[in-house]
Amino acid sequence: MDTLKDKVAIVTGAGGGIGRASALLYAREGAAVVVSDVNLSAIEETVAMIRAAGGRAAAQACNVAQEGEVAILVDRAVSEFGRLDCMFNNAGISGSDPVIDMAVFRRTIEVNVMGVAHGIKYAVAQMRKQGGGTIVNTASIAGVSGSGTLEYCASKHAVVGMTRSAALRYAKEKIRVNAVCPGVIVTPMTAPMIDNPAMKAHLDSMCPMGRMGEAEEIAEAVLWLSSSKSSFVTGHALVVDGGFMCA
Ligand SMILES: NC(=O)c1ccc[n+]([C@@H]2O[C@H](COP(=O)([O-])OP(=O)(O)OC[C@H]3O[C@@H](n4cnc5c(N)ncnc54)[C@H](O)[C@@H]3O)[C@@H](O)[C@H]2O)c1
Repeated sequence: MDTLKDKVAIVTGAGGGIGRASALLYAREGAAVVVSDVNLSAIEETVAMIRAAGGRAAAQACNVAQEGEVAILVDRAVSEFGRLDCMFNNAGISGSDPVIDMAVFRRTIEVNVMGVAHGIKYAVAQMRKQGGGTIVNTASIAGVSGSGTLEYCASKHAVVGMTRSAALRYAKEKIRVNAVCPGVIVTPMTAPMIDNPAMKAHLDSMCPMGRMGEAEEIAEAVLWLSSSKSSFVTGHALVVDGGFMCA
């Protein structure tokens, strides 16, 4: 219950899915959490869930594609809770379809790549002042394979690359940087596919474990990477996919 006791965390894309599950788990493990998303009503709901469970949280709307908004987000953690120990750069969007639409490509890069870059930049600036911290970035199995649309794969490979580069760059400053690479997970992002029974059966069958993952199963990996329990782990892209990548 106190893996993150006295820690302060930010979770982006915490209006639902993996971000919400991680914010709830962080709070359950003792962290004060700044819950962030473009969707204000969704993060207010996440904050209400955390408070109802006895945790500490604050809502801050933020479009991670906008550098200035991410700077304000990190400032909010410091003004509200005094510091920033754990940054979870999770907000992301899926690509479109096999047709390469350049507007969608650019938008995917703006959110999935620039959003993570902004998060790393401002988290590092704050963590340096405090003598360390942890950063976790949400990549995907599409970040370590060609499974996904062109723009989604490009963006998630970039997340893995930035994770490794940042890990090397900030290792001596006691800032660890890791990525989590989920397989197919039941969240609002995958809901349109899961709502189609034939597609759901196909997705289940693609996984060696015979099912998709739950957001809470990704949150557990994120918690570990964010906490001192993974103290010698940095620059790692942790695949959490029920064996999908082995197949
Ligand atoms: N669900 C999966 O199967 C799966 C697999 C691999 C990776 N991922 C990644 O996991 C992360 C979370 O996705 P999810 O599955 O929980 O989906 P989700 O759609 O439930 O969550 C994504 C959240 O990000 C928010 N968001 C979108 N654009 C934003 C922006 N510009 N700024 C701030 N917030 C923004 C959305 O409002 C949403 O609440 C994403 O990075 C996604 O690419 C998901």
